[in-house]
This record gives sequence, structure tokens and C-alpha cells, in this order.
Amino acid sequence: MCKKILLIALFSLQIISACLAGGEEKRPYDIPYPSDCHVVRLEVYVKQIGDTIKCFQTILFDKLNLEFFVWAFEKENGAAWARSVLDIGTGSGALGLTALAYGAEKAVGTDLDPLAVENARYNAKRLGLEKRFDVRQVNLKSPEVFSVIGEDEPFDLIICDPPQGGMRHPSAKVSSIVMKEDFFSTDPDHGFVTSLVEGLDGHLTDNGRAWICLRYPDVKKKMLSLAEENGFNARVLISWSDDIDPKKEIPVGNNYRVPPATESVILYELTRK
Ligand SMILES: C[S@@+](CC[C@H](N)C(=O)[O-])C[C@H]1O[C@@H](n2cnc3c(N)ncnc32)[C@H](O)[C@@H]1O
Repeated sequence: MCKKILLIALFSLQIISACLAGGEEKRPYDIPYPSDCHVVRLEVYVKQIGDTIKCFQTILFDKLNLEFFVWAFEKENGAAWARSVLDIGTGSGALGLTALAYGAEKAVGTDLDPLAVENARYNAKRLGLEKRFDVRQVNLKSPEVFSVIGEDEPFDLIICDPPQGGMRHPSAKVSSIVMKEDFFSTDPDHGFVTSLVEGLDGHLTDNGRAWICLRYPDVKKKMLSLAEENGFNARVLISWSDDIDPKKEIPVGNNYRVPPATESVILYELTRK
């Protein structure tokens, strides 16, 4: 009898402590990265930087997208015309650091993924650019695109290779299996791109430009309608069909599939109407 009362008391105690803890389920992104995630998974040499950008494990990096931004800088006379650059979703820091190498004065990089923040700071330090590249952590609980940017901090150039699409990795379809990077790499409801375009007016200088690299047809369509709704012109700065020979090997540097031509990459430039 005594044993039974003890068991009931223990069980009730467990329920009470679970309630006190708020019953909050731990999400994969609440779990810190182990130190071996800082292992460099891949390196890319960027001619203008004269050195490599190193990518930690699980950081989403796409060589083709970086290449598009390099071509855009080449096409638009480098980046010395940009006093300040904002690299949203900086990942390894490759885009912001490339903008600096093309002559931009200073850059801010932001990311939701704490490992990406570390990765971008690591590359900036290695390249001796940490004083010109300010990398900021976006709060996981308030992931609005401009949440870590002040209202009095306008940018001449905003660059972004955004998270896109829904469930990219087959295992993400199985609800009990979660790829940690899927939390950071997908944007199934277009929340990211919406927050980005809606916030442009308040964060671009008068003649400011936003360069956004898109791959998925639905997000391209969404971005064009968002540009229209928010008073921006959208022009295609670089596109697959114009600038890449599709017969050539497609230089996609991540673990995901190579996109078919219908999901070709387009680098849009948004400027105020
Ligand atoms: C396709 S990757 C960009 C890769 C990067 N351009 C590079 O060269 O390494 C998209 C990045 O956006 C970040 N991200 C996702 N949601 C975000 C948010 N709300 N604010 C800032 N960054 C975000 C992801 O963590 C990821 O690093």
C-alpha cells in the first residue's frame, strides 16, 4: 500500500514538473552545434578576394549563386559605389566578403543559424576583414529579415541568396526525422522573401539597390508581385539563359540536386520606382 502511494506521488511530481517547465518541446535549433561542426566541409577560391572562403559543415552554400553575384559585380563596375552593403542570410559570409573585395566600404551580414554567424566571422577574421564586416545573429524567436538592423542604418546595396522552397531533403518528409539545416534553408510560406521585400523601402538609400538570387519558380513569381506591391522595379541582372551555357557542367556546390532549367537561377535587381 505504502509502495503504491509512493509511486502515485512520484508520478504526480513528474507531471507537475513537466507543467512548470512549460511542457515546451525542444526544437532542433535549440540544441547547440557540437564543436566538430566547425570542421571545414568545402572551400571555394574567389579570385577577387585572392583567397578561399571556407564553409563549415551544415552551412548552406551554393557555388553557382556566389558565381552569379561575382558576375553581377563584374557587370556593374564592382562595388566601390556601395558605401554600405547588407548581406542577409550570410551563411559562410561569402557574398558580403566578395562585396568588400569588389570595393564596398563596409558590410553587415546577418544569419539565423548560429553556426553560420560563427562561419562568417571566421572567414572575415581569416581574411583580415573583420573590422569592415559586422556579422549579426538574428534571434530565432523573431526571425524578421531586418530585425537586427537599425532604422537609421540605410544600405546602398542589399544582397541576398535566400532560403527557398519547402522540403528539399527527402528525409524531411518523415516527420520524426529532422535535418537541422532544413530549419534554416527552407521558406515554404515565402515568409522570408515577403519580410525582405516589405522591409526594403526602410533600409535602402535613395538610389539603393537590392540583388536577390532566386531559383524556384513560385518564389520568383512571389518576389515579382511583392516588388510591384511595394513600389519597386525588378530587372533581371543575370539569368541562366542569358549568361550560362547550359551545356557546360553546372557548378552547384552543395549536396542538393542540380536544378533543371525550369528552376534556373535568376539574379533580380530591385530599385525604387
Ligand atoms: C542559401 S543560404 C545563403 C548562403 C550564403 N549566401 C553563403 O554564401 O554562404 C541561406 C541562409 O539564410 C539563413 N537564414 C534563414 N532564415 C533567415 C532569417 N530569418 N534571417 C537571416 N538569415 C536567415 C540560413 O541560415 C542560411 O545561412
